[in-house]
Amino acid sequence: DAKKLIDRLAREHSLSKEDYAFLVRAQDEETAAYAGALAAGVRREVYGTDVYIRGLIEIGNICRNDCLYCGIRRSNTHADRYRLTEDEIFECACEGYTLGFRTFVMQGGEDGAFGVDSICRTVRRIKRKFPDCAVTLSLGEFPREDYEAMFAAGADRYLLRHETADRTHYEKLHPAEMSFENRMRCLRDLKDIGFQTGCGFMVGSPFQTPETLAEDLKFIETFRPAMCGIGPFIPQKDTPFGDRPAGTAEQTVYLLSLLRLMQPKLLLPATTALGTILPDGRERGLAAGANVVMPNLSPLSVRKKYALYDGKLCTGEEAAQCIGCLSRRVQLVGANIVIDRGDVKS
Ligand code: 5AD
Ligand code: FES
Repeated sequence: DAKKLIDRLAREHSLSKEDYAFLVRAQDEETAAYAGALAAGVRREVYGTDVYIRGLIEIGNICRNDCLYCGIRRSNTHADRYRLTEDEIFECACEGYTLGFRTFVMQGGEDGAFGVDSICRTVRRIKRKFPDCAVTLSLGEFPREDYEAMFAAGADRYLLRHETADRTHYEKLHPAEMSFENRMRCLRDLKDIGFQTGCGFMVGSPFQTPETLAEDLKFIETFRPAMCGIGPFIPQKDTPFGDRPAGTAEQTVYLLSLLRLMQPKLLLPATTALGTILPDGRERGLAAGANVVMPNLSPLSVRKKYALYDGKLCTGEEAAQCIGCLSRRVQLVGANIVIDRGDVKS
């Protein structure tokens, strides 16, 4: 039954696709509580009570892609586009350092005009000023040479969600011009170059099934990323999926627990999207195995414009400036935000 399979996952860190699909189907309150308690124990064994924070700098929302779910897709004429300057990005990092951040995540749309040279210059500038910090990039798909240049400039980590490990499902979420092969090529290159690499997917995206989720779990099991970002799909009204139902917090939290059991050392964020659909979503994620939160460090003037989905948290606890409130909330689930780069344990 489900609990036996969960025990086996915790012991062997591997299941068949059929077993993963069974576990997805078996989710109920009792099963989730069982997995959550086990996962919280595993997290404590590996990372103690430490929760790592990442300062998220949304460097621009100009995007050449047209992913059907995403609010900053190029076809969305309602998106108010912006691009931060190199100075603005650097200033966000400076503010973040004072606030206690030791990892900065530069995230943005696939903006051809924000060139690789500019990215590399900004990475070098941040790393020179703050040698005790890690820089994570989350800027989409590039040729291998460009990733190599970013790594040589000093970037430590790269996040590129695979979105779904099922090719047919991938093609239902993306226009024909985007390719599943290239996405997977990027992930392999990133890992091969030496980045701490993160993949991930949305929970409850349109056309997702227990079978496609089983593909995701199997992919993560074999790819062995350093990080994995998962959060509920949340419809954005100006996209083709604007009328689709959102994913659930319950399924997201359950999958976080399964991921922790599968890969005890995984860096696993309790995402903004999870905090958006449930007020205490991130705390629930942390209590069930997640160990990272990524508060927003973007300038206030652009924060509302980086709207991948509707209703996104962007003030209050979500703001990096309110790290004090976040710390208190995290402590309520027995964890502690630490001032640390928060590298993956080797
Ligand atoms: N709901 C939730 N997550 C989304 N993303 C994009 N659009 C949405 C949405 N509507 C996620 C994708 C992408 C990451 C930057 O944000 O998984 O990789
Ligand atoms: Fe692809 Fe935004 S257009 S994630």
